[in-house]
Amino acid sequence: MHAIVINEPGDADVLAWREVPDPVPSLGEVLVDVTATAVNRADVAQRQGAYPPPPGASEYPGLECSGSIAELGPGTEGSGWSVGDEVCALLTGGGYAERVAVPVGQLLPIPSGVSLVEAATLPEVACTVWSNLRMVAGLSAGETLLVHGGGSGIGTFAVQLGCALGARVIVTAGSEAKLDRCRELGAAVGINYREEDFAARVKDATGGSGVDVILDIMGGSYLESNIRSLAIGGRLVIIGLMGGRKAEIDLGRMLVKRLSVHATTLRSRPADEKARIVAGVAEQVWPLVAAGTIRPVLDQTLPLPQAAEAHRIMEASAHIGKIVLTT
Ligand SMILES: NC(=O)c1ccc[n+]([C@@H]2O[C@H](COP(=O)([O-])OP(=O)(O)OC[C@H]3O[C@@H](n4cnc5c(N)ncnc54)[C@H](OP(=O)(O)O)[C@@H]3O)[C@@H](O)[C@H]2O)c1
Repeated sequence: MHAIVINEPGDADVLAWREVPDPVPSLGEVLVDVTATAVNRADVAQRQGAYPPPPGASEYPGLECSGSIAELGPGTEGSGWSVGDEVCALLTGGGYAERVAVPVGQLLPIPSGVSLVEAATLPEVACTVWSNLRMVAGLSAGETLLVHGGGSGIGTFAVQLGCALGARVIVTAGSEAKLDRCRELGAAVGINYREEDFAARVKDATGGSGVDVILDIMGGSYLESNIRSLAIGGRLVIIGLMGGRKAEIDLGRMLVKRLSVHATTLRSRPADEKARIVAGVAEQVWPLVAAGTIRPVLDQTLPLPQAAEAHRIMEASAHIGKIVLTT
């Protein structure tokens, strides 16, 4: 098969389309013929040498894919999946390839009304956003959610899931085009972080009380303003460190407002935890996608051998939603 190989850590040009050995499914895995994969910020960090694959994971980038099952590996005969089934999958790596081995617990059916190519945009964002908003933060109807980077792959999904769960959603983004798209997806308030102090706008938009949950991709640079923006009993969930990994925290403010701060990654979780998250997504989120309440947000599609160009587009941050690569 062919795969995108990271020759050495560096800029997008280190990505090369090469012939490599086919993966061999281990116990509990199936082999999937990849139709499409999607680009994630983590792939850029992996390419730069800042986010190595966890032990045992494929060395090729790619955290999600869609395609069809080519082979059932050992121990998967009674799993309910068959050769030829169309699927999408959460991966620990290896999606930028013509074939990938996937633990059966990380397979998802294609939601009805979604094309096979569009389905590649869903597993990573659905599992990340569902696990953090519901399982970690316990977001519920009537609460207010602040999503940073509302135009991102993660953000466009979080706005839709937050609305579907009955929350009032506020977003930050760096352009009016991204804020407009977030409003179309259901956001009640859009804040251009380049022009406005988001903590001050959140205070105004919530009548001074603050938000119940924040889904944050910035980390260090936003910690103080995030703490300031939370309501009593608020929960901050940090899933990205685009603004650095270190910051001071005002514990006094946390005590008084009874706040909690969580930080999680999906990729490093063990397979059984990923399977639990995937099962929750299949049961609770896929019906919302099938009903059209949540839609894939696909910015553009490129051929997989052009992965370097896709990375340049992501690093320029001009995209809204997901960038897809097709085999
Ligand atoms: N922990 C996990 O399990 C997990 C899983 C998946 C993704 N993530 C993280 O989630 C983040 C988004 O990933 P993605 O793949 O969706 O990437 P993406 O589509 O490239 O999104 C990054 C977004 O951040 C926005 N941004 C940059 N600076 C900002 C700021 N100061 N305030 C608000 N927004 C800002 C960018 O656009 P504008 O500047 O134009 O607004 C862009 O929309 C990444 O940090 C990624 O590592 C974490």
